[in-house]
Amino acid sequence: MTELIITGGTPLRGTVQASGAKNAALPMMAAAILADGAVELLGVPRLTDIRTMGRLLVHLGLDVAHHGERLVLATVDRSVVQARYDLVRRMRAGFCVLGPLLARRQKAVVPLPGGCDIGDRPVDLHLRGLVTLGAELRLEHGCVVATARQLRGATIDLLGPHGPTVTGTANVLGAAVLARGRTIIRNAAREPEIVDLGQMLNSMGARIAGLGTPVLEVDGVERLGGCRWRIIPDRIEAATLMLAAAITGGHVRVTGVMPEHLANVLAALEASGAALDVGPDYVAVRAASRVLPVDVTAEPYPALPTDLQAHWTAYMATAAGPSRVADRVFPMRWGHVAELRRLGANLQCAADGVRIAGHCRYQGAEVAASDLRASAALILAALAARGTSIIHAAHHLERGYERLDRKLARLGATIAVRRSPDRIGC
Ligand code: EPZ
Repeated sequence: MTELIITGGTPLRGTVQASGAKNAALPMMAAAILADGAVELLGVPRLTDIRTMGRLLVHLGLDVAHHGERLVLATVDRSVVQARYDLVRRMRAGFCVLGPLLARRQKAVVPLPGGCDIGDRPVDLHLRGLVTLGAELRLEHGCVVATARQLRGATIDLLGPHGPTVTGTANVLGAAVLARGRTIIRNAAREPEIVDLGQMLNSMGARIAGLGTPVLEVDGVERLGGCRWRIIPDRIEAATLMLAAAITGGHVRVTGVMPEHLANVLAALEASGAALDVGPDYVAVRAASRVLPVDVTAEPYPALPTDLQAHWTAYMATAAGPSRVADRVFPMRWGHVAELRRLGANLQCAADGVRIAGHCRYQGAEVAASDLRASAALILAALAARGTSIIHAAHHLERGYERLDRKLARLGATIAVRRSPDRIGC
């Protein structure tokens, strides 16, 4: 178990660099299955999810070499088509090997990813898309068994009850690029990570048009080569660092970012009274002297992302008035609420989201993280709190934030990581 010990109350100051985007790197690694040559990815963050995906791919016959933030992937054996349960179970993005395996090896056996702490996460849209491309699918002993001698282009709609599916778009793209003929994907995800994946596939020889719009046109090709690709910066990590400045009354410049990926987050920050200096590849945030309440609703891109709603809730608890945060992507993603209350936030879950009373002066406490983004929200509250907090189960953080503790410490935070044996709490 990993614990974070944070003594709050210090306004963060300085400059910090964002890492590469986890949610772009993971499907790109899976897409390396499609390539006849080596795929070299630059700017890969050092995270447990990246290592887990690397192990999954090694088992599937790829040679995976990590050289710091550079990752080189090349297929050495195409005979294995079954993904390992113990690895897919740990990380939902592991399911993204399904489309590429099917397209390149004509068969895939991938365990269903199962439930999750942020709510129900079905994969019906992924499966429907692959069936529309001509795959035969059956469920056997908890695994999706997919076969297709030759996938054929078709029209697919990826709209679910909560918007287009992000990894579903990656999976279907990973199959359609090698299908015979043209595939039209309606209601494709428009997230920057999907655009980056599509551009990377195009650099391998794929023919995908419409990236960043809801309609993608994919003209299948016979083979894909290798590529060298630099991954976009992680917009969620960058925004987390900006919010760390805003919630502590500090002044931080986050570099290596693409501000255009954060338009709605920056607008919300400005509406809360923070002063922003936005450059081509940086955003500097100076905290408001009085944080104003701002209601937000997390929705698919380009709206404020669900992966930041917990952080925004933590920030708004300190505002000078009430506000509301809703999540239309994962309407049950409230694992952080009870823990933020322990730190002093006055929050109430209602049918339309979380109602936040505001006026909170956080106090240090012992709390437990339920998932990756919840752990970041707890860190933000702990940084703002008077006194010391202990965040248990902070191992979630290492799945998606590259040494966040070190980055925050360089900005002046008092933060330590303690690895301790598992124990039962009080
Ligand atoms: C991706 O998950 C991200 N993960 C998530 O980030 C992110 O929260 C999410 O997109 C939304 O932006 C990766 O990119 C690896 P979805 P994904 O399929 O693709 C429903 C993080 O913290 N749905 O777009 O799994 C689903 O239940 C993680 O980094 C169906 O109904 O999310 C949800 O309500 C957490 N049927 C909505 O769609 C399906 O077949 C969006 O899910 C698929 C999804």
